Amino acid sequence: MAYENILVETRGSVGLITLNRPKALNALCTPLIRELGQALDAFEADAEIGAIVLTGSEKAFAAGADIKEMSGKSYMDVYMEDFITNGWERITTCRKPVIAAVAGYALGGGCEVAMMCDFIIAADNARFGQPEITIGTMPGAGGTQRLTRFVGKSKAMEMCLTGRQMTAEEAERAGLVSRIVPLADLLDDALKTATRIASMSRPVVMMVKESVNRSYEVSLKEGLLFERRVFHSTFATEDQKEGMAAFVEKRQPNFRHR
Ligand code: HXC
Repeated sequence: MAYENILVETRGSVGLITLNRPKALNALCTPLIRELGQALDAFEADAEIGAIVLTGSEKAFAAGADIKEMSGKSYMDVYMEDFITNGWERITTCRKPVIAAVAGYALGGGCEVAMMCDFIIAADNARFGQPEITIGTMPGAGGTQRLTRFVGKSKAMEMCLTGRQMTAEEAERAGLVSRIVPLADLLDDALKTATRIASMSRPVVMMVKESVNRSYEVSLKEGLLFERRVFHSTFATEDQKEGMAAFVEKRQPNFRHR
């Protein structure tokens, strides 16, 4: 498949997607979002792929939705095409884990896309922000909702109302990113992390992802019940038998992803 706005590679059992509109700081135009969805579909369908890394450039993960594209749109345009539900949310429906490896700017829709991934590894130069207010609009892809769940009301409110950017350190302290690594190590680290996840049982990886995500949707009691039922169902997998046998026999497990 020929892509114009992203680069798509496989690194062993990991699918790597690199946002690639350097002249526009990876602004998320509609064709880019469409290609991102197609790349995710392809990795999702590829049995060799166990995890996906989504990254940008050293200067920008993505500086937001494409302002030049949006600037001419009317209310009727955005309403009728359901901008942005259309396409963007494909990241959130991916069953395989998606890691955002963020360097430089993750602003507006860029920050929102990073938050749609399963977790964020940040380079030390990463900057997160929701600057939509400064151009007379507001977050439309989760900035007021996911950011608030990540960092709490006070920080989310301040960021969305002022457009202030968070440094990588602040983002880590606030729980927005799982770890900070030196810029030079970002891709290696994200690929190693994804490779480790891909080495685990694929069905169990999906069950863990589904279970953690469930915690956002339901009460603690319902979430715990869901978790316990899914935990029970891991005992129906061959990989659970293999994993526990390997521990008892003091050897590495050989998961067959079933
Ligand atoms: C379109 C963008 C862009 C964007 C940068 N560019 N961000 N084009 N949409 N979001 C383009 C610039 O126009 C310029 O191209 C080139 O990228 C380099 O940008 P500069 O501004 O010259 O770079 P710099 O001075 O280093 O400043 C970097 C920056 C700034 C601080 C990130 O570009 C910036 O503020 N960008 C906009 C950030 C933003 O407001 N994002 C939220 C968008 S709204 P040319 O060819 O002009 O030189 C949004 C809504 C999401 O995301 C809602 C759901 C969809």
